[in-house]
Amino acid sequence: MAREHVELTGDKQTLLVTLYGKALDSRAAQPILGDTYARDVVDHLDYDFSRLHVPRGAEVSLPVRAKHFDNWTREFLASHPRATVLHLGCGLDSRVLRVDPEPGVRWYDVDYPEVIELRRRLYPGRAGSAANANLDRTIGSDGTAAASYEMIGSSVTDLRWLDQIPTGEPVIVVAEGLVEYLRPDAGLELFRLITERFPSGALVFDACSKLFARMIRLFPAARTADVHLSWTFDDPRDLVRAIPRLELVEDVSFLALPELAARLPRARAAMLRFLTHFRWARRSIRHLRYRF
Ligand SMILES: C[S@@+](CC[C@H](N)C(=O)[O-])C[C@H]1O[C@@H](n2cnc3c(N)ncnc32)[C@H](O)[C@@H]1O
Repeated sequence: MAREHVELTGDKQTLLVTLYGKALDSRAAQPILGDTYARDVVDHLDYDFSRLHVPRGAEVSLPVRAKHFDNWTREFLASHPRATVLHLGCGLDSRVLRVDPEPGVRWYDVDYPEVIELRRRLYPGRAGSAANANLDRTIGSDGTAAASYEMIGSSVTDLRWLDQIPTGEPVIVVAEGLVEYLRPDAGLELFRLITERFPSGALVFDACSKLFARMIRLFPAARTADVHLSWTFDDPRDLVRAIPRLELVEDVSFLALPELAARLPRARAAMLRFLTHFRWARRSIRHLRYRF
């Protein structure tokens, strides 16, 4: 495959950071996520990743985060074998391949049109690279029974994209690294509409505190992508107050995830353990799971 030239800016550029973190992990002797698709995609991009100023430790934190959301997705699909998955702000993430859903599942990867165009070129769904062969298997183009898979190019907050989604089955909304970029009113409208249209389901996403949203500008990677985090969660029950159909099921401090400290170099792990004594640090980034 010819190498793809990439020029992404703003929020879209951040997908290159998460992709790169996962690609670095896949090259480690003992990977956390082992996402070889991320590695293949990075190899196919004509892009100088040093431009991103990816922070040290991203090769641990990003795979740990992705693995946690993979596990929540797998858990939901294990008890809802005919579910719909709305993977919002999917970027170039290969979750559908890692999770490898059963034939009864409908999976939608949604991101901006520009990102989905790039994604279609990198995951064209025909045999060629290991990732593509697997995608063929997942989407059934080799003739086997498989989950249905579609990519949708739209802003998630332009709610017309939802009209094409069948709503009869339970849904899981997986929004990793997305919610903080949405305007709170637009994000609420999106979640409210999903809870109104589907019979039942789960929302899983990471959320940051107001303090973290301010602090992130200290990181060169955030300044390079000109990242502004607008939807913050100091109290995850605010979402339940806004959408009473939702129930908060899990509120996990990302910094306190045991695998994070276990996989970081010793000095960083010690710093992390120290930080998790403070409430402001524990709530700086959380992984939230709601159901309805
Ligand atoms: C930090 S990246 C995360 C990508 C992917 N979830 C991952 O973890 O690798 C943020 C993603 O959200 C997407 N995004 C941000 N705002 C969006 C919106 N309003 N509609 C669709 N996608 C959006 C960006 O294009 C980007 O792909």
